[in-house]
Amino acid sequence: MMLRWLVIAHVLGATIWVGGHLILAIRYLPKALKEKDISPVVDFEKHYEALGLPALFLQIITGIWMASIYQIKWFSFDTVQYSIINLKLILLITTLLLALHVRIVILPELTPKKLPMLALHIILVTVIAVAMLYLGLSFRLGL
Ligand code: HEM
Repeated sequence: MMLRWLVIAHVLGATIWVGGHLILAIRYLPKALKEKDISPVVDFEKHYEALGLPALFLQIITGIWMASIYQIKWFSFDTVQYSIINLKLILLITTLLLALHVRIVILPELTPKKLPMLALHIILVTVIAVAMLYLGLSFRLGL
């Protein structure tokens, strides 16, 4: 019963995290690049952040909780299940590092010149988010 609610919370978090990044990457980023104007991306980030960060936090808490229910061995790639979850962990750490780099290095001094650098980060985080979703489903369906 508990697992059911953890999966529901985890999938709800996934819709916000993956959906938000797809909207940013497909809708707002091309507009910003085309117009050489940072405001579409900065405005979206400002509104999305309050929802996106708690969603990612929810993913992490529910994900680690479910992994402990499934008795996943951390940092082990001995079984398909262990590999899937530990790969997710590596992708999560990569996401956090990319997000920190954006927050600390890129955003405070963002100019239209730095847009391609920001675009690269947004595209990477989006591709990783979709990969996390694929790996999540692979836990039940197989790779
Ligand atoms: C952006 C981050 C993440 C996304 C988009 C994501 C997405 C998903 C999705 C769509 C599922 C499939 C649910 C199902 O079919 O039952 C899933 C399952 C799962 N995820 Fe994640 N996940 C993320 C992060 C994490 C993290 C950080 C962990 C733990 C380290 C984790 C652990 C799990 C586990 C254990 C399952 C299997 C649950 C089950 O099927 O019973 N996830 N994830």
